[in-house]
Amino acid sequence: MSAPIRIPDGFVDELKTRIRPSEMIGRKVKLKKQGKEWVGLSPFTNEKTPSFYVNDQKRIFKCFSSGLGGDIISFVMETERLSFMEAIEKLADEAGMTLPTATPESQEEYDQRKRLYAACEAAAAYYEECLRAAEGAEARRYLEGRGLSPDAWGRYRLGFSPDDWRKTIEYLKAEGFSMHEIIEAGLAVEKDGGGEPYDRFRGRLMFPIEDVRGAVIAFGGRALEADAKPKYLNSSDTPLFHKSNVLYRYKTAREVFGGTDEGGLIVCEGYMDVIALAEAGFGHAVAPLGTALTEQQLSLLWRAGPEPVLCFDGDRAGLGAAYRSIERALPGLEPGRSVFFCLLPDELDPDDLIRDRGAIAMGRLLEAALPLVEVLWRRERDTEPLDTPERQAGLEQRLMAAASTIQHGGVKTAYERELRSRMRDHFWALRSAKRGGNTAGRNPTGQGDQGLRGATPAKTRGLGLIARAVANPFLVETGFEALALADLPDHDVGAIRDAILAQNDAGQALDRKALCSHLETSGKTRAADLLRTYPDVPEIAPGGPEEREWLIALEQYARLDGTDRPVGTDSEALASVSDWRRRHRMVSERQARTARLNEATEQVDQD
Ligand code: UTP
Ligand code: MN
Repeated sequence: MSAPIRIPDGFVDELKTRIRPSEMIGRKVKLKKQGKEWVGLSPFTNEKTPSFYVNDQKRIFKCFSSGLGGDIISFVMETERLSFMEAIEKLADEAGMTLPTATPESQEEYDQRKRLYAACEAAAAYYEECLRAAEGAEARRYLEGRGLSPDAWGRYRLGFSPDDWRKTIEYLKAEGFSMHEIIEAGLAVEKDGGGEPYDRFRGRLMFPIEDVRGAVIAFGGRALEADAKPKYLNSSDTPLFHKSNVLYRYKTAREVFGGTDEGGLIVCEGYMDVIALAEAGFGHAVAPLGTALTEQQLSLLWRAGPEPVLCFDGDRAGLGAAYRSIERALPGLEPGRSVFFCLLPDELDPDDLIRDRGAIAMGRLLEAALPLVEVLWRRERDTEPLDTPERQAGLEQRLMAAASTIQHGGVKTAYERELRSRMRDHFWALRSAKRGGNTAGRNPTGQGDQGLRGATPAKTRGLGLIARAVANPFLVETGFEALALADLPDHDVGAIRDAILAQNDAGQALDRKALCSHLETSGKTRAADLLRTYPDVPEIAPGGPEEREWLIALEQYARLDGTDRPVGTDSEALASVSDWRRRHRMVSERQARTARLNEATEQVDQD
């Protein structure tokens, strides 16, 4: 990141008034006038009916198919993948304005910023006080309903903004702040046509947002009623606060995470998710402020740890957001530096998931986060059917285009090889399926053990490994990652694996009969038959050499589809792909321990 230069107050506003959004955006997107607005096809998705709007009066764009929206600066940032400063530079150039070069802040400016910090801090303290006062009763009930105790209010400095148009202003004035300062700090709103300024936050649950040094610079405010719009209101950008540069709870998360060079912060979508994660023992969680992850936010994440895990709600919007983050992350990848993706099941967000299934389940999911290359691969593979050479070439083109945005040469080469190897295996599997062969195997190189009659080597080997785990349930823990993450080379083995994990998640003891009936009820009769008729396997002792051998065999088996993975010059870069399990595990084990500890403490508290 280049050293930030301070943009003079008013510069950005001036820039935005000089450039007409429809004109600037119209050069990228074909726009048609429709009433007061301009309409076109989204540049962010490949929609067929136009749902992308530009409004020159409000100087904003809104894209309903991607959910993105903002001003011309965010448009340039989104479409050209520029940082905030780069976008400003580009637009300033276009508007014929000169950006000042970095100069030390003047004393006056410095003093003014100090006043704004003080105003934000005073407001945070005031909101905290209001939460505990008579007027905070409803907010307190709301928090209790969400399982947050007074202790927790303090930990996150939660507050309540009185449901009144002037109370916050009056309070801050009494504390010695001028109206100008209160407005500049984003705490009061001044109508364009004049009139009395009024409190921005009214009747909301308040989340203070801190900068990297821990100073309060902005707020998020949640409505208490379920149907209020907007549900969350954030401070507008101020001289202290540019929402695209900030992550909620970053400073604390970084401290909790510690100065480790393994793993990374957890990124989720909302304030309440960050808090729920922290309460469950995952104190190293942060969130962007209602927008897609920006480049600056990624830099912040990478400054804290090399492999942050991005958590997305398990709905379509979540998947879309995950996919958009791929684009953001690719250019910045370096050996050992990447992002992982945790896609939550059943439309749950982390807050819901922890409440419904507990901290340990959350830990498991984080542990099972997918590497970037996997999510990229899935996204492109699933874009369209791959049943013709033209479509297969299309896949290759898309994958290589994505890889080409990686700036680091070694990582780029590693991605190209990895992606090509996945394509080879995938096309091979498609061809063999078309030939009508009964091989569900994805790779021809699986070496056979003693085979089941008529089964592929991949099936035989996989069944052997799985049967061993069924007879020795402790092995499921030992091989949890390989089991949970692997794209297993055989469908039936994969189905049995899924059943094992489902049983494990449900807290049931592993049992062959139960597994078989689980498989049958989910329509996997062939897998059920295979498991039922598999000969008994001996029990082994935990911690012994057989356990190790089993784990190695399982990991090899899980990687069957990557046997021709390159080694050598790019191996350093590849480490981020192949070693991530081990590295991620260390961090998540720590998290799981904390989580267990917390649950135990809670238990004690309740008793
Ligand atoms: P969600 O709508 O997913 O809410 O918004 P949530 O975090 O699950 O909140 P609860 O559980 O209903 O309280 C996720 C994030 O998007 C931003 C906020 O930062 C929020 O935390 N957001 C959402 C807004 O900025 N404005 C909105 O109106 C809604
Ligand atoms: Mn939620």
